[in-house]
Amino acid sequence: MLRLLIGFCAVFMINNSLASAESLGIYTQRQPFLLAPILDAYSAKTGIQFQTVYAPDGLATRIQTEGSNTKADLVLTVDISRIKELADTDLLAPMDSEIIKQNVPPHLRDVNGSWTALSQRARIIAVSKNRVGKEAITTIEDLASPKWKGRICSRKGSHVYNRALLASLIAHNGAEEAKKWVEGFVQNLARRPQGNDRAQAKAIFIGQCDIALMNTYYFGKMKYSKDHPEQIEWADSIEIAFFNQTGRGQHMNISAAGILKGSKKKQIAREFLEWLTSTEAQLLYTEINFEYPVNPDTEFSREVASWGEFKMDQLPMIDIAENSPLAQIIINETGW
Ligand SMILES: [Fe+2]
Repeated sequence: MLRLLIGFCAVFMINNSLASAESLGIYTQRQPFLLAPILDAYSAKTGIQFQTVYAPDGLATRIQTEGSNTKADLVLTVDISRIKELADTDLLAPMDSEIIKQNVPPHLRDVNGSWTALSQRARIIAVSKNRVGKEAITTIEDLASPKWKGRICSRKGSHVYNRALLASLIAHNGAEEAKKWVEGFVQNLARRPQGNDRAQAKAIFIGQCDIALMNTYYFGKMKYSKDHPEQIEWADSIEIAFFNQTGRGQHMNISAAGILKGSKKKQIAREFLEWLTSTEAQLLYTEINFEYPVNPDTEFSREVASWGEFKMDQLPMIDIAENSPLAQIIINETGW
């Protein structure tokens, strides 16, 4: 009987502690398995649990429809334009955090505090190690040169990563120059734009082309791939060329986050975002995801550091977001 009573008490205590445990709901455009190690680290530290919903598309509409009934407190996006869309539709609450302001440089967060970058991604030029070499191309503008005719592979221009890159070219060089660049770039393609970033590495490996655009974290993911060992060879066939190093620096994109206006747990959500921008969490972004930190006090992981030091373009992310619609028009006109 005593045993039964102890057992009952134990079950009651577990249930009670679960009931009192705080939780946060997250809509994420990033695949949950990539987020899991970072969320687990925060749960272990604070006891806060997470309910993640993977919502790669239609996030603004979904949140608008749910209004104050939403179960999500936070949204995590990849690419600057997607978080700006949520801010523009008035779905994000100001974070109002001195800690985030201290941790994240101004060009990587919203002036009104409605979103912050959590990681940076370098969209570099991947080149065939044997047939090109990383010294051969120094600027992104070079890729429009006729000397690379028939040697470039590309994901579709309309993918957010490429659209953001083109938006940065519009911001720096003007729309007319940017359009000329795409026309030259498209002329140089070895095949119709297709596939994801890893597919471009494969195309270089099998000799379909020699040059492609790629986010560096894919290089890390391929190099250490457990499920797809063939990708280790793809990674081994390419080199990373950071571009525009003697000028404005390498184009960067971000993953970002904001707190939803409909959230009833804004303070807990804000504390979580503050932690995500701390060096402790930023280290996980560089170690687990092979991304670049937004907090400048964070060291790069050994693998990321091995790709080399480079100068990052400090163009405000908002300039990329604002030029993205024009970039899409150019992409449509040029057939990228
Ligand atoms: Fe990606």
